[in-house]
Amino acid sequence: STAYPFFGAHQAGITTPAQDRLHFAAFDLSATTSRDDLIALLKDWSFAAARMTQGQDVSESGAVNGSPLAPPDDTGEALNLPASGLTITIGFGPTLFTTDDGVDRFGIASKKPALLASLPRFSGDALKPGNGGGDLCIQACADDPQVAVHAIRNLTRIAFGRASIRWSQLGFGRTSSTSTSQVTPRNLFGFKDGTANIKAEDPMTVNDQVWVGTDDAAWLAGGSYLVTRKIRMIIEAWDRVMLGEQEKVIGRSKGEGAPLSGGTEFSPVDLEAEGAAGQPLIDSNAHVRLAHSSMTKGSQLLRRGYNFVDGNDELGRLDAGLFFISFQRSPQQFIDVQSSLSRDALNEYVKHVSSGVFAIPPGAASGSYVGATLF
Ligand code: HEM
Repeated sequence: STAYPFFGAHQAGITTPAQDRLHFAAFDLSATTSRDDLIALLKDWSFAAARMTQGQDVSESGAVNGSPLAPPDDTGEALNLPASGLTITIGFGPTLFTTDDGVDRFGIASKKPALLASLPRFSGDALKPGNGGGDLCIQACADDPQVAVHAIRNLTRIAFGRASIRWSQLGFGRTSSTSTSQVTPRNLFGFKDGTANIKAEDPMTVNDQVWVGTDDAAWLAGGSYLVTRKIRMIIEAWDRVMLGEQEKVIGRSKGEGAPLSGGTEFSPVDLEAEGAAGQPLIDSNAHVRLAHSSMTKGSQLLRRGYNFVDGNDELGRLDAGLFFISFQRSPQQFIDVQSSLSRDALNEYVKHVSSGVFAIPPGAASGSYVGATLF
């Protein structure tokens, strides 16, 4: 079983080959939490995360080695399970720096990156109030759902009295590959997703598009920005669409995932290619045309999303979709791509229901903690 190091120049869970399962949680800090409490929480989270990512329980006494007269430190459901590729990625929301009323609770308002602000409203957004945002976030990814859930459960428990969960999301069947060593998975529309993603094996693009450089807040250098969008997919409507139309909407074939301009899965998308009648082979409103970097001022994203099915709604439809996650060196890249998608043919079949944006600090040096560069 794979174990990824927790400590390093960058946090794990970004260019790490996308694992199969996700448990993502956003937290709000309690009204009584002080600056020192916040620092202590980040230290406690880093300590426990470093252990759990190596397949250990949250502390030395853990689930079963402590006093029989006290509740165990660790909840125990991951005992004897391997690390399962667990990564824990910690992020800071805009409200950590200043509340919506402009209050600087932790003396860090002056360090708020100018780019860290709630995303603008996009056409077609159907965001549910209270369904996104958060002071802090944790992305836990693993190849075993029990390991990912154990991580969020125990980090939530450690936060008790200091921070509590605002919202959380389970995901399965990664909808992106972030390494050329991975087979491209499929999303719930049945299409390969992640073909033209930024891959870890392309360090030039990763440096250019994913890691924050020295042009942003100094404490964030080597970090990134995380955007979450919970996208409900109206799969019953999609499932009644003819195959040829589905492929036209995406701009790729459903079986192979090849661009409709020709070639095989990894052939470059040719937006200029025309058919015999002079019509564009990749439709003018096709998803891959509008998301392509030539249409987004050069902005690219490292996509790392997951499928979700949260049961069904009151009309008996599956409450299903894509929990979209992307990493980029500036939230503006997401804004550029999402704005270009305003006339996406896919929009008839999807609705964005929640939104989040978080600054992802650089990785912690061995024995230090995530966020140390901020304080
Ligand atoms: C490409 C599906 C939402 C950005 C693709 C592809 C599929 C797909 C099937 C082609 C395979 C690939 O290259 O990965 C979907 C579905 C969505 C969705 C079903 C909603 C439920 C989004 C959103 C964004 C986005 C919200 C960003 C704002 C991209 C980008 C590409 C892409 C950048 C690569 C385009 C290229 O350069 O060829 N998507 N997508 N997608 N998607 Fe999406």
